[in-house]
Amino acid sequence: MLNKIMIATNNANKLREAREIFSPLGIEVVSPREAGVSADPEETGTTFRENAYIKARTFHALVDMPVFADDSGICVDALDGRPGVYSARYAPDGNECEKLLGDMKDVPEGKRTAHYACVIAFVDGDTEADFSGICEGRIGYEKRGTNGFGYDPIFLRGDRTMAEMTPEEKNSISHRSAAMKGLYEFIKERYGE
Ligand code: IMP
Repeated sequence: MLNKIMIATNNANKLREAREIFSPLGIEVVSPREAGVSADPEETGTTFRENAYIKARTFHALVDMPVFADDSGICVDALDGRPGVYSARYAPDGNECEKLLGDMKDVPEGKRTAHYACVIAFVDGDTEADFSGICEGRIGYEKRGTNGFGYDPIFLRGDRTMAEMTPEEKNSISHRSAAMKGLYEFIKERYGE
C-alpha cells in the first residue's frame, strides 16, 4: 500500500484539500517544502495537461515517491477559450476580473458562457495518468462576493457567483474537486488493499 504522495505545490489550500481527500486512505500528502525540495518549472505547455505533466515530472525527479500536479484556468467561449492556460498571467495579480470584464464588455447575455478546467497529472516512475474536471458557468457584469479567488467574483452558476458560495459549496461543483475525484479513484484502485 502507498503511504506517501507529493502534491507539486506549496499552496496551502490545495495541500489541505488533498489531505482531506487522501487521509481516509491512510495516505500522507506532503508538499515540496516539507520534503525539502524546490523547483520552479516553466509552464511552457499549450494545454493544462502538458503543464500539469511538466510540474509532476519535474518534482518526481527530485523525490522518491509518487507525485501529482494540477493545472487549471478559465476558458471563455466568446474569447475562443482564452485566457485558458494563460489565466494566471492574463492580468496583474488581483486585476484579472476587471480585465476579463473589460474584454467582455460588448458580449451579449446569451454569449457569456465559460468554464473552469483542471487537469491533474500523476507520475510514479512506472505509470503516468491524468484526470480532468470541468465546471460550467457564465461571466457576469460586475464583481460579487468575497470567497474563493481569481475569477470567482465574476463566475456565475445560476444567479450566484462562485465567490458568493461557501468553500464547501464550491468544492462540491468545482473543476478541481472533479479532477481530484478521478485521481482518488485511480489511487484507490492501484494501491488499495
Ligand atoms: P493554477 O493552476 O493554480 O496555476 O491556477 C491558474 C489560474 O487560473 C489561477 O491563477 C486563477 O486565475 C485561475 N483559476 C483556476 N482555478 C480557479 C478557481 O477555482 N477560481 C478562480 N480562478 C481560478
